[in-house]
Amino acid sequence: MNILVLGSGAREHSICWAVKRSKKCKSLYCIPGNAGISEIAICKKIDLEKKNNLNKFCKDKNIDLVIIGPEKYLENGLSDYLRSNDINVFGPSKKASRLESSKSFAKRFLKKNYINTAKYKEFKSYAIAMKYVSSAKYPIVIKADGLASGKGVIICNKKKQAEETLDLIFKQKKFGSAGNKIIIEEYLNGFEVSYFAFFDKNGYAKLGYALDHKRAYDNDIGPNTGGMGAFCPSKLLTRKIEKEIEEKILIPTFKGLKKEKFIYRGILFFGLMITDSGPFVIEYNVRFGDPECQVLLRNLQTDFLKIIELNLKDKLRNLRIRNDKKSVICVVLASKGYPGNFKKDKVLNNLSKAKCIKDVEIFHAGTLLRNNKIVSSGGRVLSITAKADSISLARKLAYKVLSIIAWKEGFYRKDIGQKNL
Ligand code: AMP
Ligand code: GLY
Repeated sequence: MNILVLGSGAREHSICWAVKRSKKCKSLYCIPGNAGISEIAICKKIDLEKKNNLNKFCKDKNIDLVIIGPEKYLENGLSDYLRSNDINVFGPSKKASRLESSKSFAKRFLKKNYINTAKYKEFKSYAIAMKYVSSAKYPIVIKADGLASGKGVIICNKKKQAEETLDLIFKQKKFGSAGNKIIIEEYLNGFEVSYFAFFDKNGYAKLGYALDHKRAYDNDIGPNTGGMGAFCPSKLLTRKIEKEIEEKILIPTFKGLKKEKFIYRGILFFGLMITDSGPFVIEYNVRFGDPECQVLLRNLQTDFLKIIELNLKDKLRNLRIRNDKKSVICVVLASKGYPGNFKKDKVLNNLSKAKCIKDVEIFHAGTLLRNNKIVSSGGRVLSITAKADSISLARKLAYKVLSIIAWKEGFYRKDIGQKNL
């Protein structure tokens, strides 16, 4: 098969890595890709806003399958466009993508299908929302309805903070039109799990879970980020909880997708809070998580392209995905200043030495080649992904690699995977 992957993060690098390991892969392209991806795929720069350019590229290169990484392309309807041009796509339709692109849409879906989620209210008016927060029980969680690059969720411990947040969203338009509508929901206590399953018209196949680290600094301090590290498995997630996730969340979600007649062919990512009263859905994402994907694909035994082929034929139902029983940890190396302002074009040395360490894969995110040197070009720069017999051994490996890279322009969390020990 000739495969095209869309995206430029470490998530997409790990997707390319998994595709490349499949015997079914003949040639691999990536738009736009990064310095790491260009070592295993042919990277092209094509403006994806101009959809017909992409169609032409797919026809010219005889692309058999397009794998869409980031949600923005799904929200733009790229999967529908490619399907309407007879190109196979891994990724849900624009309509189904609203499960991620509109929080109120996802909440209504959850409620309609009796799936546990935090109690909430929707608001379009600043005045009515201000009145509500004046008598709410704190903490509360305020969320912009639309996509806000993971920054649209604010946990408010006090009334004053809630009022300031409403001002930011409604008056100062911090999230632009994504904040025209908001939801306010109750705060859930527990631990978070990112759970993943492939879905099609007739069923689903479970991939597994990983625990993410969203805050920028050790001990879950600092601003929220796209994710600073992840690991699996975790002792926290017992078989009993996994069973509950399947019964109370996966099955009703599948039935709900069917009722809505959504075209869902792709991965569905459940952001869960495991509370004392069981698992609750915090959010749906209609794509792989980053850095969770890097962790999960390293343990995947079943041929990745075989899963996707079955997914596109609506034949997932009878598939049991096999994973290695190993522990995997991913530590993100980010530019100093991320998720705020950071410098670019900083040279990364020592990568060829670091790459030699056994059982470690270095997936690139914000990197590019300049004058034969790899330089940084984004906030999250590398995903160091180590695999071993236990989380503590995997941790040792990942941190050893980071000490070899010794990038003075960057930082990383030292406590990834520690909540498992
Ligand atoms: P979201 O973008 O909806 O995943 O929210 C970002 C982060 O905010 C989540 O990963 C949680 O850490 C936190 N969060 C969101 N909703 C809630 C909630 N109802 N209770 C507690 N924490 C929440
Ligand atoms: N790591 C969380 C996400 O990809 O949204």
